[in-house]
Amino acid sequence: MIIDHVGVAVESLSAALDFYQGRLGLALEHREAVASQGVKVAFLRARRDGGASVELLEPTDAEAAVARFIAKRGPGLHHVAFRVDDIKGEMERLKCQGLEPLENTGPRAGARGHQVCFYHPRDCLGTLIELVG
Ligand code: CO
Repeated sequence: MIIDHVGVAVESLSAALDFYQGRLGLALEHREAVASQGVKVAFLRARRDGGASVELLEPTDAEAAVARFIAKRGPGLHHVAFRVDDIKGEMERLKCQGLEPLENTGPRAGARGHQVCFYHPRDCLGTLIELVG
């Protein structure tokens, strides 16, 4: 596994872009609304030659998990995402390790056309973990 991105929950995508793009100097690579997760997101790259990205997530739905996260804990680091070659195989392997994904229906469509699944922080030492296929 490699780290694909870290997810950061934000109250305002435009204010967060001012900071991450304008002040930190990361390069905006992609913006998208992910209706199934009730968020709009922006991915930024720290290096031109690849490496991990930062995903900024602004909730668009008050019932979205990210909205509840911000209401409870405030904005900030939300999840760590690992890229895997075979997401279904990896989910099976983790199941053998006693880890069940948040949704048992298999991977679902995530941002940037990838299949994704999530593992709850209570099962992952306090950090929400995303697999990106
Ligand atoms: Co993510």
